[in-house]
Amino acid sequence: MADISIEVNGVKFPNPFVIGSGPPSTNFRTIDKAFTAGWGGVVAKTVSLSSTPVMNVNPRYGKLKTPNGDIIGFENIELISDRTLEVWLDEFKRIKDKHPDKVLIASLMESYEKSRWQDLTGLIADTGVDMFELNFSCPHGHPETEMGAFMGQNKEMVEEVTGWVREVSKLPIWAKMTPDITDITAPAKAAFDGGADGVAAINTIPSIVGINLESLRPMPTVEGHSTPGGFSYYAVKPLALRKVSEIARALKGRDISGIGGVISSHEAIEFILMGSSTVQVCTGVMLQGYGMVDELNQGLSDFMDKNGFKTVREFVGHSLQYLTTHHHLVDMKIAKKSDALGTNRDENWGKDITKETDKLASN
Ligand SMILES: Cc1cc2nc3c(=O)[nH]c(=O)nc-3n(C[C@H](O)[C@H](O)[C@H](O)COP(=O)(O)O)c2cc1C
Repeated sequence: MADISIEVNGVKFPNPFVIGSGPPSTNFRTIDKAFTAGWGGVVAKTVSLSSTPVMNVNPRYGKLKTPNGDIIGFENIELISDRTLEVWLDEFKRIKDKHPDKVLIASLMESYEKSRWQDLTGLIADTGVDMFELNFSCPHGHPETEMGAFMGQNKEMVEEVTGWVREVSKLPIWAKMTPDITDITAPAKAAFDGGADGVAAINTIPSIVGINLESLRPMPTVEGHSTPGGFSYYAVKPLALRKVSEIARALKGRDISGIGGVISSHEAIEFILMGSSTVQVCTGVMLQGYGMVDELNQGLSDFMDKNGFKTVREFVGHSLQYLTTHHHLVDMKIAKKSDALGTNRDENWGKDITKETDKLASN
């Protein structure tokens, strides 16, 4: 087995696979299961001060299925943790006592008030957690009260709030980005300017997963109504890879925790090749269970052996060098006098559209 451990922001991860904040990290029991199963790190479900009201509804999930029944996407309208901070403080301590070699990351979210962010940070820092992740990215519920993605879409707020947390704690900080923004590099840069050590990308994408054609109601349907929620799982991977690549290219050498649509080692390796030094999984675990980490570890090790990589760090961002502009692709074709430029001009379409499509696809 290759050495799949990695040091990120001074913290040693036994493997780069981290549970993303959500149901698989929502209390002591779930986090204990994750570490026992072999996950290198866990970002706990986002917490706030106990006075922040959190009231979830049911049902709160919706699946996107192909006509064959395969699940390819997932929507949720779940809020941050509905458990009190006092309970969490005790559990953070107990988790670290039981799993001292695993990386426990506390995810924080609060309203736009310096004292609230600093109180929350100070209380949690004393429990022995290893890192913080700042949730600037929850897309539903909280943005209506100027939290979560509301902040993540405002780079000045991202810088300022990150700075508040930086002021009161020496622990490494990741800032979690919303993909629901035109230029994700702006809040990412702002986070580093505010003192972050890394960024996590992406949180979920605002979505409406479907409409029930019997009831004519959008899903998930709560008392006959719905609200747009966060989209995750396999279908978001291409969007997440692009966002991660943008951050990696704009902020070279910075640590990124890649997230979005990982269902196996294949996607996880793709995130590393696009610049992530750790990879988070949330919905994949909800649908497959914690045991999927075995395949992640084995698949990564096999990939490294096959390609002669001795460390994970060696190939973080390796494939970014092959991203360029469309103009450059055309120039390279012209330079090679390649006939591939002309073989399928638009005027040639019209014999068999499915075959013509296949001919132009790379996989
Ligand atoms: C049910 C559910 C609850 C989530 N809750 C949180 C949360 O409390 N805080 C947070 O930062 N992200 C939360 N997320 C987002 C995930 O951590 C992750 O960024 C996103 O789902 C994309 O990754 P995935 O495709 O592996 O799920 C949640 C996701 C789901 C599906």
